[in-house]
Amino acid sequence: MRSAARATALVALTALLSACDVGLPAGRTPHREGNRLDMVDQPKLKPQRRDIFGSRPTGLMEPQPGTIAVGEHPYPYAQNEADRAGVGLVNPLQPSPEVVAHGKFVYENVCIACHGPKGAGDGHVTALFPKPPSLMTQKVRDWPDGQLFHRPMRGQNSMPSHARQVDAHDAWSVIHYIREMQKVEPVAPPSAVAAAPPASDSAAAMARPTGAASSATAPAGPVKGGK
Ligand code: HEC
Repeated sequence: MRSAARATALVALTALLSACDVGLPAGRTPHREGNRLDMVDQPKLKPQRRDIFGSRPTGLMEPQPGTIAVGEHPYPYAQNEADRAGVGLVNPLQPSPEVVAHGKFVYENVCIACHGPKGAGDGHVTALFPKPPSLMTQKVRDWPDGQLFHRPMRGQNSMPSHARQVDAHDAWSVIHYIREMQKVEPVAPPSAVAAAPPASDSAAAMARPTGAASSATAPAGPVKGGK
């Protein structure tokens, strides 16, 4: 009986000791000398170690709500606040040749696929997707720069936000480039009527190039889902 009690005590002790080991993050093979630990076996926080037991302090912590990364400038206006953006934001860039050239570069790498080379809304993808309205309308000309800036930041209907592709410097430069285009391109008629039909039948518009885009050179290649 005494030996049974001793065995139980031994088991309990082993369990207790291994529990201590769990509480004390160790290297791969914790090396003990007497009751000392190796220096590598210090209790410490490791940044990538998960808090598997719920209560142990961990280096892996969520940033406090509202934390802003160094160099990050969150865009302050919600999607439906284009008017406020128009009043509150001022283009920080002067339309110098460099800025306009950078705007052209960004436009021709990001916006052109949908908005077309002259902002008419006839970019290549419009053979398959709803045409964006022209950027040469009187409406867009009358918008303050901030209201234009709002579109790439927040997107609008079928145009997704481009805040991950273009930073503020890119977007403000693009606006100067659009203004330059507006100086030389004729004023486009209001877009409301042109935009409505494809939007109401977008599934069909995606499946086949519609006559609406006939002025653009519709690519004759295979259409997604068409074969
Ligand atoms: C994936 C295609 C796509 C890309 C890329 C794109 N747009 Fe658009 N854009 C659209 C569509 C579609 C609309 C119309 C959305 C709607 O129905 O209101 C639009 C609307 C706009 C409008 C508002 C026009 C109006 O009259 O309401 C502006 C301004 C604009 N885009 C600027 C830009 C700029 C600047 C870029 C490049 C940084 C860009 N867009 C890139 C598709 C695109």
